[in-house]
Amino acid sequence: MSRIPIGIVLNGVTGRMGYRQHLVRSLLAIREQGGLPSRDGSLIWPEPVLVGRNAGKLAQLAQQHGLTEWTTDLDAALARPDVQIYFDAQVTQQREKAIRAAIDAGLHVYTEKPLAEDTDAAVALCRAARAAGIKHGVVQDKLFLPGLRKLKRLIDGGFFGRILSVRGEFGYWVFEGDWQAAQRPSWNYRAADGGGIVVDMFPHWQYVLEQLFAPIRSVQATIATHIPSRVDEAGQTYEATADDAAYGTFELEGGIVAQINSSWAVRVRRDELVEFQVDGTHGSAVAGLRECHIQHRGTTPKPVWNPDLPVTEPFRAQWQAVPDNEPFDNGFKVQWELFLRHVVDGAGFPWDFAAGARGVQLAELGLQAAREGRRIEIPALDL
Ligand SMILES: NC(=O)c1ccc[n+]([C@@H]2O[C@H](COP(=O)([O-])OP(=O)(O)OC[C@H]3O[C@@H](n4cnc5c(N)ncnc54)[C@H](O)[C@@H]3O)[C@@H](O)[C@H]2O)c1
Repeated sequence: MSRIPIGIVLNGVTGRMGYRQHLVRSLLAIREQGGLPSRDGSLIWPEPVLVGRNAGKLAQLAQQHGLTEWTTDLDAALARPDVQIYFDAQVTQQREKAIRAAIDAGLHVYTEKPLAEDTDAAVALCRAARAAGIKHGVVQDKLFLPGLRKLKRLIDGGFFGRILSVRGEFGYWVFEGDWQAAQRPSWNYRAADGGGIVVDMFPHWQYVLEQLFAPIRSVQATIATHIPSRVDEAGQTYEATADDAAYGTFELEGGIVAQINSSWAVRVRRDELVEFQVDGTHGSAVAGLRECHIQHRGTTPKPVWNPDLPVTEPFRAQWQAVPDNEPFDNGFKVQWELFLRHVVDGAGFPWDFAAGARGVQLAELGLQAAREGRRIEIPALDL
């Protein structure tokens, strides 16, 4: 079967996301499965060009995975005639100028979130991409998590009746780096380097809430830096200047109230690292990364508040698991396949720079709401 080679510049490929999720679990996985069938039956074949700052690391990565194309010269990579897509998984601060260069080079652009550091920059990138007529997309991986796909299925099937509220708990303990190494890069904890949990997670909550439930009308947030100093990759103590926890409340169109706690300073006594409880008039669900459990109004117990007695109900056991009913692939890979088909076949792809800009906007307004101690309405973006 004939192949359609698609040259993809992968920038930031030595990082956590760039390497594991995008190179190995997505693009190389597509090659391992024999390519991605396009509309006419030919196979879309990703040809990664690895880009980064450290030649040694790139050469080693390339060799480890049987790849030959790598460079530390981004402009040279963007100018290659065999390249059609630019992908960015660099630290957020480096993203805007690299994407702009890729748009100027006429490439289609796919990028990790957040699209840019502030709303104005994200809107400007969206306008530039549209003016250039390129295809553009932003990673919205949580939508493709099995747990959230099952939740979406329940919503589409009318399980909940009228949805009242959404309660999200995200987080886990990120070690301080002194007696055990931190499991996240240190730039995440420095405001000057583009860190902070609001900037990191609110873009995710924006698309999850908007696409599963309804557009977000307002935001309120309390943020904190619970751990004031940490130890970096080189063993140096540094001041944590960015927020490491955010307690957000979002009002959605139609009156749904969503509350999401995000924290890198919380210990997990949940089934999964993120869980959303959705309560509706006819039923409730708790969805995590992979699992989803439901309780219908007909099986809802009637507990009575009485602290003098031990718990009377096995509350957890009263929920029913939602079956898979379909295979679930890696969420990053699924979205890559949709973007590749968008580029090659012109198939639809709603997760574009406009969607990415709304994610950046929610983070920016969330931080403003926290700073000013008030609820902020979310205006439509002028895109
Ligand atoms: N979709 C998701 O679930 C998800 C999860 C985590 C991170 N991210 C996003 O992915 C991006 C990368 O995050 P990560 O956790 O992989 O970070 P990381 O620190 O592991 O990787 C960052 C990459 O950027 C490169 N880089 C380029 N210029 C740099 C500079 N001046 N300073 C430091 N590094 C520089 C690094 O070499 C590295 O390859 C971020 O924008 C982050 O918001 C997305």
